[in-house]
Amino acid sequence: MTSIRALATGACAVALASLCAFVAPSQAQTYPTRGITMIVPFAAGGPTDVISRIVTAHMAQTLGQSIVIENVVGAGGTTATARAARAANDGYTLITGHMGTHAASVPLYPKLAYHPEKDFEPIALLAGTPILILARKDFPPKDLKEFVAYVKANVDKLNMAHAGVGSVSFTTCLLLNSILGIKPTSIPFNGTGPALTALISGQVDYMCDQIVNIVQQVQAGQIKAYAVGTAERNPALPNVPTSKEAGLPEFQAQAWNALFAPKGTPQPVLDKLSDALDKALDDEGTRKRLLELGSVLPDKSGRGQQPLAALVKSEIDRWTPVIKAAGPLN
Ligand code: MLT
Repeated sequence: MTSIRALATGACAVALASLCAFVAPSQAQTYPTRGITMIVPFAAGGPTDVISRIVTAHMAQTLGQSIVIENVVGAGGTTATARAARAANDGYTLITGHMGTHAASVPLYPKLAYHPEKDFEPIALLAGTPILILARKDFPPKDLKEFVAYVKANVDKLNMAHAGVGSVSFTTCLLLNSILGIKPTSIPFNGTGPALTALISGQVDYMCDQIVNIVQQVQAGQIKAYAVGTAERNPALPNVPTSKEAGLPEFQAQAWNALFAPKGTPQPVLDKLSDALDKALDDEGTRKRLLELGSVLPDKSGRGQQPLAALVKSEIDRWTPVIKAAGPLN
């Protein structure tokens, strides 16, 4: 039998729900009234962290509140993304997701603790990040054709660095390895910031990474870049050939970073955030810093909530067959 206490609790819950529904819009109008936390699902100093810091610096000015970056590492970005999915949907906890956390992780993790489409509100795209095939500076092959022959012949001795199952570096090198028909030893890091340090010091042999992480290091000769996986060369590294020019046209890979909020975040809050991001991407200083790192900036029609929702859907569709074709991960 239903007790008086249970009925009273249920009544309070109903009353509270309607109160929340009443209060939320007015809170949304004055948003933000305090600092915002931006979860970055990889180590500090890596591509996701760097892009997030550049863009949120300008967004904070527009919004009139601080945006504090919190690096939460583990499981190729999926630990942090699961946490963000469960955060309060009030606009004060956001996440920079990417091609890995919000697309490739779906087929990579059959028991993923969140779904990119069901558990998040898309805010907007930050930047596209072309992927390069990289190796330590004393890796013997001098071009991509030699790289292909060398890794096929020496796969048992090779270590491939990446940022965990679910990361961009893991997924794009899975594509590369699948094209080449190889399975090297894979060495996970908490982000490609630390993975790059290991590549520079020669502790690992090769990796696939987002351009924003490596421009300076390639220019300084600290690592080798064999090819970029886009149709055109990148102005930040004009001497690096495209994968097509270098003889491996099947390797096409460009990642992206984007802002997401937990599902149910009020629409006026989402609109304020996408507007602030839009202003950041229009700002000359912000654009210059992102372009120097090799980012591809979305034009007006590619920005905002709807284009990001469509991108997430199409990227899940793109990476699912690639990951299935690569077969078991170990
Ligand atoms: C990072 O910020 O470390 C990267 O985005 C990791 C990756 O996905 O490869």
